[in-house]
Amino acid sequence: MMKQLNVAVIGTGWCGGIRAEACARHPLVDELHIAETNPARRAEMEALTRPASSTDDWESLLGVDGLDAALISATPETTHYPMAKAALEAGLHVLLEKPIALALEEADDLIETAESRGLKFTIGYSQRFNPKQAFARRSVRDGSVGDLRHVLVTRHVGRRLGAKIGNRIKLSPAAMEATHDIDFAFWCLEPRRPVRVYSQMAWGVRADTVGLADSQVTMVTMDDGAVVTVNAGMALPAGGYPNAATTWIELVGTDGSVMIDDTHKDIVHNTSTDGVHFPLSTMPGEYVEATYAGPMERETIHFLEAVANDTEVMVKPRDARLVMEVYMAADLSADVNEVIELPLTPDHQGLALAASLKQ
Ligand SMILES: NC(=O)c1ccc[n+]([C@@H]2O[C@H](COP(=O)([O-])OP(=O)(O)OC[C@H]3O[C@@H](n4cnc5c(N)ncnc54)[C@H](O)[C@@H]3O)[C@@H](O)[C@H]2O)c1
Repeated sequence: MMKQLNVAVIGTGWCGGIRAEACARHPLVDELHIAETNPARRAEMEALTRPASSTDDWESLLGVDGLDAALISATPETTHYPMAKAALEAGLHVLLEKPIALALEEADDLIETAESRGLKFTIGYSQRFNPKQAFARRSVRDGSVGDLRHVLVTRHVGRRLGAKIGNRIKLSPAAMEATHDIDFAFWCLEPRRPVRVYSQMAWGVRADTVGLADSQVTMVTMDDGAVVTVNAGMALPAGGYPNAATTWIELVGTDGSVMIDDTHKDIVHNTSTDGVHFPLSTMPGEYVEATYAGPMERETIHFLEAVANDTEVMVKPRDARLVMEVYMAADLSADVNEVIELPLTPDHQGLALAASLKQ
């Protein structure tokens, strides 16, 4: 019989709630332990997932006997590095939500800590588990689109979600949103490496409310001249669906293309109380009756399977570190209005960190 796992979920808000529920439902999980500082949310999650234990003190969870893995989904993003570091040092396999860290040295430290202890360590780039994105990657790997020359992704979320994020941490649209799409583009373009970045911020309605740009447009050139364009917007008026995201993707190769409509206009829910909604349109997805719409449940189960079967995680932390270097370069580029070469020089690393934290 396959070994069952004991897992901890730290921070059971929106994403951590989905991850905890996925763990609670899955037969690979024996004990689920949760840490959540918001008492009302903790009570809700206790009722939903019936955990073996529940606490507001995440550090005490790491000492639970027989724990195998931690899924870290707390906010603000300043918690990611210290929580992941402590979990890895406690010998746990870790799934950490993006961003991997706030500074490149922190990311390097986490990667080194995981590698030196032989632990699984992965970052929540959930969109790789979206079937449409996976199909795009397969169309590159099977050669059907030929040599991939251009990837374009434009994604918008609503300003209410933008404000939720922007009010807890001043990270740019590239760091908090385009990060998924940069990861996706590089995944399709593997093993090519990025060499050059140019980015601009479009300032608008969010300047006075959260002090962040409405959109950020970033262009990345790869080492063979292929080009990635990513637009990340966080300013659409509220409405449509809570935390809706709308995305259009184009891949163009020498022998073919893939055009992906992920705008979520395929279901219209129209009611006299709320008007028109486009449901099932969030990035992580949600449970619907006996099924799940979206990538986060599958991503969570992939991590459980990797730990139980001792197989590789799909999203390597070095991928996340590279994406981080690119969005930091994008923030620096937008700050100084110049093209930034990669890898970042030590000088540029410092300037990029300052640029990304001064948003
Ligand atoms: N993959 C995706 O599609 C996706 C989507 C949204 C967010 N995210 C990422 O996931 C992370 C979580 O985002 P969210 O929207 O779920 O946030 P959230 O604010 O809804 O949830 C975070 C939870 O952590 C809890 N918390 C805070 N400090 C804690 C502590 N010290 N110990 C225990 N619990 C603590 C909060 O009370 C809250 O319930 C973010 O870093 C974000 O970047 C990923």
